[in-house]
Amino acid sequence: MSKIIAFTNQKGGVGKTTSAANIGAGLARAGHRVLLVDLDPQVNLTHGLGLLDAEFNVYGALLHEYKVKAYPIQERLALIAGSPTLSSFEKVKGDELDREFLLKDLLEPLHERCDYILLDCPPALGLITLNAYACATDLYIPLEAQLYATEGLEKVLEMVARVKRRLNPGLKVGGIFFTRFDSRKVLRRETAEVVRDKYPDLVLTSTIREAIALGEAPHLGQDIFSYAPTSAGAADYETLVKEILTR
Ligand SMILES: Nc1ncnc2c1ncn2[C@@H]1O[C@H](COP(=O)(O)OP(=O)(O)O)[C@@H](O)[C@H]1O
Ligand SMILES: [Mg+2]
Repeated sequence: MSKIIAFTNQKGGVGKTTSAANIGAGLARAGHRVLLVDLDPQVNLTHGLGLLDAEFNVYGALLHEYKVKAYPIQERLALIAGSPTLSSFEKVKGDELDREFLLKDLLEPLHERCDYILLDCPPALGLITLNAYACATDLYIPLEAQLYATEGLEKVLEMVARVKRRLNPGLKVGGIFFTRFDSRKVLRRETAEVVRDKYPDLVLTSTIREAIALGEAPHLGQDIFSYAPTSAGAADYETLVKEILTR
C-alpha cells in the first residue's frame, strides 16, 4: 500500500503546491516512487512542473471519460495533471451516492506502482478536498505564520475529525509546518510559538524559509533541487522530507 499524503489548508498562498512539488521531488531523489496528483482547478502544480498542455487530466479520469494517465516528470516522479474543469466537480458529482470516494477508487489500481501518492488540494474544504481526505493516510498542513493562520488550521482539524468519524477512520494528521518563514518578523515568530504551544505534537521541527528561488523554480517548470540545489529552499525541503520519512 502506498502512503497517500494530502497537502491541505483552506487558505491559498500558504505553500501547498510548492510543498507538494518539492517534497515529491525530494522523496523521488531519496529513492521512492512518487505520484503527484493536482487537485486544484488553478493547476499550479501541473504548470509548475512544466506540463502545459496535458491531454488527460484527473477530472476526465474521475468522470470516466478516459483511463487515468500519469505523466513522467523525472526518474521515479510522475504527475496526474489537474484541470480548470475540476471546479465543476462538486456540481457534476455532488448528488452521487459514493461522491466522497471517487478519487479513492481512481487511485486504487496505482498503489502497486508507487510508494507515495501526494495530493495537492485546492484552497477550500469542498468535495474535492473531501475526496482527498477520504483516501489519504496522512495530511500535512503548511501554514504561513501570520495573524489568522490558526483559524484556517482549526477548520481543517475540525473537518479531519468529521472525516475520521464518517469516511476514513485511519486518517492522521502527519504534521503542521511553517512555510515562507521570516524569523526577522516578530509577528511571525510569535504566531509560530502560539501554534507550537497549542499543538506541540503536530508542529514539525523543519521550517521552510521565505526564499526567492522557491518562487522562481516553477516558472521554469522545475523543482527546487534541479533549479537551485544549493539554495536555502532546497536545504529546507530536504530537511522536511527527512522529517516526514520519520513520521
Ligand atoms: N518558501 C517560499 N518562499 C518564497 N515564495 C514561496 C515560498 N513558498 C511558496 N512561495 C510562493 O508563494 C506563492 C503561493 O505558494 P503556493 O505553493 O502556490 O501556495 P498554495 O498552493 O497554498 O496556494 C507562489 O507564488 C509560490 O511560488
Ligand atoms: Mg496551490
